[in-house]
Amino acid sequence: MQLTETFGYRHNERPAHRIYRGDNAFVLSRLKDEWTKKIRFVYIDPPYNTGRLQYRSFHDRFWDHYSRERHAKWLAFMRERLEKLYPLLTGDASVFISIDDAELPNLILLLREIFGKDNTDVMIWDKLPPGGSAGQGKMKRVKRFRNEHEYIVVAFKDKNKVRFNKIRRSIPTQKTYGNPDNDPRGPWISAELCKSAEKSLPGRKNYYTVITPGGRSITRQWHISKEEFNALDNDGRIWWGNGRIIPRLKKFVNEPYPATPGSVIRNISQTEGVRDLKQYVASEHFYHPKPVRLIKHLLEMATHPGDVVLDFFAGTGTTGHAVMELNKEQNARLQCILISNNENNSLDQILIPRLKNYIDRNQVRETWEVFKLTDV
Ligand SMILES: C[S@@+](CC[C@H](N)C(=O)[O-])C[C@H]1O[C@@H](n2cnc3c(N)ncnc32)[C@H](O)[C@@H]1O
Repeated sequence: MQLTETFGYRHNERPAHRIYRGDNAFVLSRLKDEWTKKIRFVYIDPPYNTGRLQYRSFHDRFWDHYSRERHAKWLAFMRERLEKLYPLLTGDASVFISIDDAELPNLILLLREIFGKDNTDVMIWDKLPPGGSAGQGKMKRVKRFRNEHEYIVVAFKDKNKVRFNKIRRSIPTQKTYGNPDNDPRGPWISAELCKSAEKSLPGRKNYYTVITPGGRSITRQWHISKEEFNALDNDGRIWWGNGRIIPRLKKFVNEPYPATPGSVIRNISQTEGVRDLKQYVASEHFYHPKPVRLIKHLLEMATHPGDVVLDFFAGTGTTGHAVMELNKEQNARLQCILISNNENNSLDQILIPRLKNYIDRNQVRETWEVFKLTDV
């Protein structure tokens, strides 16, 4: 490997991110020396084998006109790369793969073969804008139903060892919520904090008495410890109402709260991907780059601070963009490895300029090193 370029600003405590230029099969085999069992998170967005050739920024047909067989070449292509990936993964690694219906069944079978039959899951990405509909306002004739989703197949090195994080979710804001005590933190909804009197069992966990501001005592089994209750009360997050109600938790609409991630990803629109890209690289066309928020969602769910993240179909660099945003917003300390074959100059003209512009405009201390393969 030969270092050809470095850009960004050095961070004293964090290693540089890497970009490897070349066919990902070759690069993956050359990563073995340095990265075996070091990568905990992988996201890839490979060609879907839709067969569409026109207006594409990359080749997406793995069969030729005279052949009836439409899947074998794609499968061989993916198998080679996933087998080379496998040794690089930590024992608790997760691999997220975007795909649509064309190759979904084949991909699942392939992953079961490589990762083991119990080590796969399927997520659905509902790619409509929040509350909207895809292609709204376009005169496109749909004969059956509109395609509103795609898949993210997940493969685990060993599912039993994987624990996902809660993610920060905002309360949907289509409705209007009240703010009866004019809390400066804005509108809120209230949530239950204890079991009913009948269901509260003396001596059980979190069974204690709370005294209301008016002096009434309420003895219940609470969902949180007494210390947590007091801390929330001191922070003005307990709603006592008129003093005659059972106190409730105030959940602020504008404040994200930790939620268990679900298998359906909603409210992240496909069109966001183009917007995210155009914000940093003007006038470049690329077919459906993924939204930064989609990759951030997966990273938030499945990484721990300091993890190494890999995307070997890097395209426009969305994964690199998402890693830097998460490092900035949540001090995630992730190190990112991207691999690109520079098809249609997408590495030189889109990916690298995008990451450079992100760093310059946001003044973040992130460094990228660009390597190319050298002959052995
Ligand atoms: C669907 S796009 C990925 C888009 C990316 N997720 C984004 O948001 O920009 C797939 C990318 O993989 C690249 N690619 C295809 N075959 C490759 C290979 N063998 N090695 C490296 N990259 C490859 C294509 O050129 C294309 O840029």
